[in-house]
Amino acid sequence: MTASQGQGRDQDLDAEALLRIGVAAASEAGRLLASWRGDERPEVVHTKSSPTDVVTAMDRRAEALITSRIRAHRPADAVLGEEGGQTDGGTEDSRVRWVVDPLDGTVNYLYGLHDWAVSIAAEVDGAVVAGVVEVPGRGETFTAAAGHGAWLHRGAARLALRCSAGVPLGRALVGTGFGYDAGRRQIQGEVVAALLPYVRDIRRGGSAAVDLCSVAAGRLDAFYERGLNYWDYAAGGLIAREAGATVGGLAGRPESPSLTVAAGPGLYQQLEAVLSRLNPERDASRSQERDALQDRGR
Ligand code: IPD
Ligand code: CA
Ligand code: CA
Repeated sequence: MTASQGQGRDQDLDAEALLRIGVAAASEAGRLLASWRGDERPEVVHTKSSPTDVVTAMDRRAEALITSRIRAHRPADAVLGEEGGQTDGGTEDSRVRWVVDPLDGTVNYLYGLHDWAVSIAAEVDGAVVAGVVEVPGRGETFTAAAGHGAWLHRGAARLALRCSAGVPLGRALVGTGFGYDAGRRQIQGEVVAALLPYVRDIRRGGSAAVDLCSVAAGRLDAFYERGLNYWDYAAGGLIAREAGATVGGLAGRPESPSLTVAAGPGLYQQLEAVLSRLNPERDASRSQERDALQDRGR
């Protein structure tokens, strides 16, 4: 490889250049989603893990649009999309993978509530280096490139984001969310009920990507949810982290579908300690137990 080819390859991996591609695709997908003006709810074309885990025609159209815009710029990259799964690029090897939730907060979208978002992250060698969360209902775009801070764009204005600091758990406004599976929801309800006496209050916004950006902006002091998918938190996790939040799981583990927690550094430890005691990790084994019991009862 010549020196100039090597330099070209490095530029191909530049986080801010990747972010620009993600922002353009998210903005176009946001406009497409917001353009739906029917008097009726968007059509539900499919259900996934449960009858309430719906896919609308708009989820699919938005993902197809995003994938085609990414491919137009970077045909070799892989794309992991919630609706389409993973598709690899051309024959040439790429170190970049895009992680796309074309519509996070589908139920809010279906009901005409504002908090739904387009979430796009870019990974280089498996690490997220750029993320955008476009929230058309608020006219806001949240962005981050690794090492370059987190930003809120509203019209022509650009604001640097900082998560809240020095908030003790007892004064913390904590966001969370619930999965679609009935068994998991019951246990999530038990955990949230047990957490409630320790915190200022709880919010359930309906979009994990927006919730993580709300932590970045200090609109929530903390967020946690068990059972998220990678596309729910890939972009928002980077945005929260670049705004100074600690983002992870329990006991020093990274954030994962098992548990995603985000909060300012001191608060994170306090919330993590309570969540560890409440042990949401029991969720999986208890759901399995319940499923086994139900199976035996059939
Ligand atoms: C959901 C939202 C919701 C969270 C769920 C997610 P979707 O994503 O992020 O806030 O509580 O766990 O599945 O289905 O609207 O893309
Ligand atoms: Ca989602
Ligand atoms: Ca989605």
